[in-house]
Amino acid sequence: MRIDIITVVPELLDSPFSHSIMKRAQARDLLNVFVHNPRDTTPYKQGQVDDYQFGGGAGMVMMPEPLAILIEKLQSERKYDEVIFMTPDGNLFEQKTANRLSMKENIIIICGHYKGIDQRIRDHFVTMEISIGDYVLSGGELAAAVVVDAVGRLIPGVLNDETSALFDSFQDGLLAPPVYTRPADFRGWPIPEILLCGDPKKIDLWRHEESLKRTKERRPGLMED
Ligand code: ADE
Repeated sequence: MRIDIITVVPELLDSPFSHSIMKRAQARDLLNVFVHNPRDTTPYKQGQVDDYQFGGGAGMVMMPEPLAILIEKLQSERKYDEVIFMTPDGNLFEQKTANRLSMKENIIIICGHYKGIDQRIRDHFVTMEISIGDYVLSGGELAAAVVVDAVGRLIPGVLNDETSALFDSFQDGLLAPPVYTRPADFRGWPIPEILLCGDPKKIDLWRHEESLKRTKERRPGLMED
């Protein structure tokens, strides 16, 4: 899978894909992330990419031309399945969105900055608008990193058996059960005895019950879905 991210602050994305699972996914060529700065392709002088908004109002808006040039350049090189714009007024990002995106081949992600991007880019290039939650970040970069991480780890071969996504929270519509490791008694706080019983069926049943209990307590809405 190839993901091209468009941002005026590429430095913000230096680290998120350079470690751990995302690093391994790229080393194995299962995921390739490229970061592009519209300042490098803008036709305007001194790398200008934003301007005042028509009609007045505080805040600069990202101009359409530098974004369009970059998107069209990428689209001339390969076919993209989605052109995603990260924005707090987009559709809420959920595990099922991540599942769906993990099956795509090529994706462009546009990170907004300042007051946002010119609406005409959204109207004529963007195919999907994603919000990672009901709060406003200073730009789309951290949100894009969240999406790439959630999607990247679902690409077949990225996770091994030990880190398999099958048992994640949300994957079966439930929150994950609690987990424990050594020591079995820490400061007089013992682990649930059933985990030592050696019967995988009993343990699976216990884990499922704990998942149900946790979901009912914390996120009852998930069970209605
Ligand atoms: N850009 C700023 N805030 C955002 C959010 N909550 N989700 C996605 N992109 C954003």
